Amino acid sequence: MRDVVAPSHRHVDYLRLSVTDRCNFRCVYCMPEQGVPFKPHEQILSYEDMVFFVGAVSGLGIGKVRLTGGEPLVRKNLPYLVRRVAALPGIEDVSLTTNGTLLPRFAAELADAGLSRVNLSLDSLDPERYQRLTRGGRLEQALAGIEAAFEHGLTPVKVNAVMLPELMQELDAFVELTRERPLHVRFIEWMEVGGCGPREEGERLSRTELLAALSERGALVPVASPGGFGPARYFRLEGHAGTLGVISSVSDHFCGDCNRLRLTADARLKSCLFSDEETDVSAAIRARDREGLLALVNRVLASKTYSRPRAGAAGRGMSQIGG
Ligand code: 5AD
Ligand code: SF4
Repeated sequence: MRDVVAPSHRHVDYLRLSVTDRCNFRCVYCMPEQGVPFKPHEQILSYEDMVFFVGAVSGLGIGKVRLTGGEPLVRKNLPYLVRRVAALPGIEDVSLTTNGTLLPRFAAELADAGLSRVNLSLDSLDPERYQRLTRGGRLEQALAGIEAAFEHGLTPVKVNAVMLPELMQELDAFVELTRERPLHVRFIEWMEVGGCGPREEGERLSRTELLAALSERGALVPVASPGGFGPARYFRLEGHAGTLGVISSVSDHFCGDCNRLRLTADARLKSCLFSDEETDVSAAIRARDREGLLALVNRVLASKTYSRPRAGAAGRGMSQIGG
């Protein structure tokens, strides 16, 4: 494993801001069946706190913000936060990661508030399997979420599918999604985060296996990332309007290129998804202590090691960090 200490953190320009640890689903690859205990409300940052935080770090060159969760849309009045964050000087892009099921209700307001685009989780195109994987979700609602995203110009629309073994039987359906419309399907290697990961080697599909299966459907032409930088590699099948992407978070070490900082809904800064290290910035945020806050942020950025600390960090799960 590489252990590169970056000479500077100047290329960290992207914040993933988790607005809630709550979710209307309990996806099998993300949470245990009984769910995870939610943080008490008083530990969760208010929208005003979040706006203060983003305003402070935008001065460090962080101009892109992605709102994550849990499921961000279960928190009340998310369009208000979008509007406030999008209006901050230095913020050039506000995006959202969502399971999409509440998007039909909120897409118009979100777009009006300044949201630029969405990534939707969609792990199956089979209604029964979708329900099983999400432990209760309805596929038709997620598909309606995709429609709402297109209708309100929240583009490029990207869809995330975690590479669980049964995905192989559904590849044709996912490929089909990219044929007519500029929809970007990203297959994500199933990562071990917070104790939720593949239990046996057989459950772990790799990028190589997936790309081999996809290339049986036609020549895969590498293309640039739709709408900017990210860890995915994209391909286009001839004649298709959309693309297919692979995020090989397990097989590859793209840590050296990592441009992101994370803030959890309870004000813990994390410089890496796989690290158990967290810096509590709640006191500085609540006291509106800009200097104190930036000192902490700078310390976290300077200590960002650009290498994976260790596999299978035992700390919090994805819904609590903000995937
Ligand atoms: N491995 C890979 N991806 C995950 N996600 C959540 N948990 C995991 C995991 N263990 C992804 C889902 C969702 C996004 C928020 O995070 O695809 O789209
Ligand atoms: Fe919720 Fe997303 Fe986790 Fe599924 S993957 S339980 S939708 S936070």
